[in-house]
Amino acid sequence: MRLFYPWQRREVHPVRTGGAVIVTLFLGLETSCDETAAAVFDDTPAVRSSVIASQTDLHARFGGVVPEVAARAHLQRLLPVVDEALRRAGVRLADIGCVAVHHKPGLIGALLVGVSAAKMLALALGVPLIGVNHVVGHVYACRLAAGRDIFPCVGLVVSGGHTSLFHCRDPLHLDLLGATLDDAAGEAFDKVAALLGLGFPGGPAVEREAAVGDDHAVKLPRSFLHDERLDFSFSGLKTAVLYALGGQDNARPSPPPPGKRRADLAASFQRAVVDVLVAKCRQALRRTGLTRLAVGGGVAANQTFRRALEEMTRAEGAELFIPPLSLCTDNAAMAALAVEKWRRKEWAPLDLDAEATFAG
Ligand code: KG4
Ligand code: ZN
Repeated sequence: MRLFYPWQRREVHPVRTGGAVIVTLFLGLETSCDETAAAVFDDTPAVRSSVIASQTDLHARFGGVVPEVAARAHLQRLLPVVDEALRRAGVRLADIGCVAVHHKPGLIGALLVGVSAAKMLALALGVPLIGVNHVVGHVYACRLAAGRDIFPCVGLVVSGGHTSLFHCRDPLHLDLLGATLDDAAGEAFDKVAALLGLGFPGGPAVEREAAVGDDHAVKLPRSFLHDERLDFSFSGLKTAVLYALGGQDNARPSPPPPGKRRADLAASFQRAVVDVLVAKCRQALRRTGLTRLAVGGGVAANQTFRRALEEMTRAEGAELFIPPLSLCTDNAAMAALAVEKWRRKEWAPLDLDAEATFAG
């Protein structure tokens, strides 16, 4: 059966804003994990509005994201979030000239909500649909925040699902330099937070606890630190925290009480993660000869990590691009990567699929 693509008949859908300036407005959707988000941006690209409805409250009592709960919450919240994004941007749905959606990677049921809504909106409005890889979007968040070209650059995406280093030739062409062989950095933060009884989400909780601890107090491993490879491994670090808590024979030690020991463990763990991430970025800069580093994803919100990156890039004579906190964790503004595809007319068919993995 031949699918009907209404935008094949209509080339552009510009709106006039502020007198003579004609721009195309985009609506971006994000539902890859536990944030329901929508954003309005233009083809500059400049962000007009970005609305994020976090589901933290729904998942906290389970100690982690429950995929079914996430998908159902996206279903309830997505359209109100879209309405709010349009309202804050001061535009109507009819002004939207392109719909962009993060269609991979992520939780499949969660992604499907955004993908289905995006298809429906594109079809109803008769405008192009564009599929965006949200991990590549995490690097593009740095471009958005910078307000200028940042490519070519080394890109590091550190989130709950990914820890990957790229040679980013341009916004859409990324060569993988290395990735985690087991847990992602954010996942390690979440698991160690659970071990320490700090709750969910783990990253910010560990960061708060670490602020009052001594980061040299507990000796913890740093995998591949002196290795040529640009890969990562964090599961040994997590196990080392477990052993530090209860010894090797205690499979499920109870979380430590609030106090110096707990804070020292949090600080030492955070320092170990930061040391490895920063060292691999330095290695990637030296190996590629690139002088720009872009860092995105939820873990890039960590202040100790940001400071260490600033120090390292200064010493290396490299430029650091790291977005403000609201553009580090999942959001729909980074779907502005769609502008790059739109310029190349890389539009998605109406049978665009949600995909759980990065590749494909
Ligand atoms: O990019 P993101 O919002 O979602 C994914 O695509 O996974 O990243 C979420 C991850 C979680 O594992 C969370 O614990 C971590 O980012 N995170 C942090 C901080 N804020 C969020 N990790 C360390 N320090 C933080 N301040
Ligand atoms: Zn993400």
